[in-house]
Amino acid sequence: MATSTIPMARGLPGIGSVFDMARDMRAFLTESYLEHGPVYRMRLLNQQFTVLAGEQANRFLARHGTKHFRSFEFWSGFNAWFGAARSTLSADGAEHAAFRRTLKRGYSREYAVERMDGMIDIARREIAAWPEGKPIPAVPALQRVVTDQVGTLVAGVSPRPYNDDLVCYVHGLLSATIVPRPYLRWSPRFRRASAQVDKLYHEVIECHSGSMRERHGAEPDLIDDLLNLHESDPKFFPEADLKIAAMGPFVAALDTVAGTCAFMLYALLRHPDVLERVRDEADALLTGSAPPEQALREMDAMHRAAMETMRMYPVTPLLVRTAANSFEFAGHRIPAGERVMIATAVPHYLPEFFPEPERFDIDRYGPERAEHKQPYVYAPFGLGPHRCLGNGFAEVQIATTMATVLHEVDLDLDRAGYNLKTTQIPMPAPAESFKVRVRGRRGAVQPLAGRKPWGALGAVLGGALWGALGAEAAREAFRSMTPAHLGRRPLIR
Ligand code: HEM
Repeated sequence: MATSTIPMARGLPGIGSVFDMARDMRAFLTESYLEHGPVYRMRLLNQQFTVLAGEQANRFLARHGTKHFRSFEFWSGFNAWFGAARSTLSADGAEHAAFRRTLKRGYSREYAVERMDGMIDIARREIAAWPEGKPIPAVPALQRVVTDQVGTLVAGVSPRPYNDDLVCYVHGLLSATIVPRPYLRWSPRFRRASAQVDKLYHEVIECHSGSMRERHGAEPDLIDDLLNLHESDPKFFPEADLKIAAMGPFVAALDTVAGTCAFMLYALLRHPDVLERVRDEADALLTGSAPPEQALREMDAMHRAAMETMRMYPVTPLLVRTAANSFEFAGHRIPAGERVMIATAVPHYLPEFFPEPERFDIDRYGPERAEHKQPYVYAPFGLGPHRCLGNGFAEVQIATTMATVLHEVDLDLDRAGYNLKTTQIPMPAPAESFKVRVRGRRGAVQPLAGRKPWGALGAVLGGALWGALGAEAAREAFRSMTPAHLGRRPLIR
């Protein structure tokens, strides 16, 4: 029998729990769960949410997510900025399943594995530009690597010249999705970023036009799959919905993979014993003779360290939905139309599932303990119908990127003994104060003298060409010097 009173999480008059969430959302959601149980309410400024938390909530989302929750309302504002009526994240039911079928191949683990050498080349090129002995803010440095990897290998266009604009645009939109920001539309910086993102989109579409495709003989990628869907069923997938989908590869990793790699770097630098194990595997991947897929599988400590990072520092600790109909959960009635938060990462810090949850311990995931295999307690990629479609891709990307970083450079924390600070909006990430220093180079790439012409030298020439010749001429020059093996297809078609 459902009871009616749902407890309210602590908060301040007028603003609700904004400060607590901004301090550490995963921690606050867990504290509130321990105080109130699996259902409680929370206010953030003028919005109220019903929070479902704990193993029971994760189980409910996985089993009944399709029936009881809608994603549309939460993401509709985000869609509107792109001029779209729908997107994968906002679609529900049969429409949503059709979107997932179209995106599946381009975001798959197999697609990523086939392009591992391209990922490594891109990471090497960026790392070659990291100065020795100077503080390097970790998150932006890793954002440049991972956004270039996904953009280049999944959408056929390198977003390097657009990096800062992508960050500004996506962070503006994500923040506005959480807390309304009516002034965003008039911000000169945001407007400039928006215009640049538009330019990137047109470049992507131009590169996938019939004549360009024939000219460069590239393999079909995710953008081709989207264009095919549009051509075959324009009523279901009109041109207005194309831009948000085509920009997916440029934003999918920007905060998720970059944030996770940065958290992982911090954890490894604080745990030299684990760092050593992971680095040995990285050396084997980059210099060994095993085929990439086998070497990837053999990186046991690397995978465990990535899993432990995503347990302790989940970049998506909650999901937002609307109750599609009234339902009962944990003895409470949740009315139709209620805004619901599912705090998927709460079990990550419950000692009954993960003993000593504050400890970075990669042995949790060994066959003897296998703590992540308890049902519905480990959910870094979400659960239910919208569970991350790129999770396999992301795992390959994290392992490959971290392996390249650890193989190429010896890093130190910029300030010895630094204790991690985080930002929480738009998503949890290490704060700007998390900086590293290159102590020395140990891999193949030397600064400004790349082993290969498209290594560090390519990066420098690319930047210079872009400035001196203009974007089109620079792209043409890049095309002619791009190795065929980079992602097994040209960098830019
Ligand atoms: C550490 C890295 C990542 C994390 C933690 C992560 C997490 C998530 C989560 C929690 C969702 C579900 C959102 C919701 O239910 O509202 C999601 C959706 C999605 N992710 Fe990821 N993600 C990561 C990386 C990636 C990458 C690299 C790609 C693509 C290459 C990707 C593609 C997608 C797509 C397409 C969806 C939409 C799925 C749908 O709505 O059906 N993700 N991700």
